[in-house]
Amino acid sequence: MAFFQKKADIQVDMDHLPQHIAIIMDGNGRWAKKRGLPRTAGHAAGSETFRTVATFAKDIGLQYLTVYAFSTENWKRPPEEVAAIMNLLEKYLHEAIDRMARDKVKMAFFGDLTPLTPKLQALCHETEEISKGYDGCQVNICLNYGGRDEIMRAAQAYAQACVEGRADPHHLTQEQFGNWLYSAGVPDPDLIIRPSGELRISNFLLWQCAYAEFYYTDVLWPDFTKEELLKAIASYQNRSRRYGGI
Ligand code: IPE
Ligand code: IPE
Ligand code: MG
Repeated sequence: MAFFQKKADIQVDMDHLPQHIAIIMDGNGRWAKKRGLPRTAGHAAGSETFRTVATFAKDIGLQYLTVYAFSTENWKRPPEEVAAIMNLLEKYLHEAIDRMARDKVKMAFFGDLTPLTPKLQALCHETEEISKGYDGCQVNICLNYGGRDEIMRAAQAYAQACVEGRADPHHLTQEQFGNWLYSAGVPDPDLIIRPSGELRISNFLLWQCAYAEFYYTDVLWPDFTKEELLKAIASYQNRSRRYGGI
């Protein structure tokens, strides 16, 4: 029998959570602007929201949470803003390392980490390494990530394997191709949430979103709460997924 959590009139069937939720953490800049603060203050507030939401996702027993932290296109921003985002990530990873043994959260990174500072790259590898044996919630952080970039890199690596005789193009399946992506081994997202009112995908999980359910809200990411996550899950649970069937 399903257990229903009733919180602020949001009814969620906790026995049938989506297996994988992905979030485009957008709206930090507008949140700051509304308050007359620098954009970096919005990113700081957004990183607090990420802590809250990731902890809540773990607590309710979500299996996979994937968040878009920095896109391949976000390098177009002023260097000071990029540096501030990277510093916040560094701070977050230091804290995560301290908490990992207790939380048993597995962390992974999707994206090309090589343009990041050696220090940040080392922290990413350390968190992946420490947590790789954990079987609790898996949090994937998309960092210097772009859906097209991911697919192109997979195609390149696959083509190279074919040239070297390690792969045979005549027998390629969608499932096998998926194993060349950053998300290898992770099921496709069931639910993709985008706060901030933008109704676009912005190069997020292009291959994996094929049959994802979308949830958009005007709430800006720093204002996103546990209740907002429950609202998104409740909306997801009221949908009928047909995958092209009837
Ligand atoms: C999302 O918030 C954070 C990143 C893209 C790194 P934005 O910084 O895009 O916030 P808005 O869209 O300008 O409000
Ligand atoms: C998407 O948000 C990327 C992240 C949230 C990390 P953007 O703010 O970069 O997307 P656009 O520019 O509005 O499409
Ligand atoms: Mg934005």
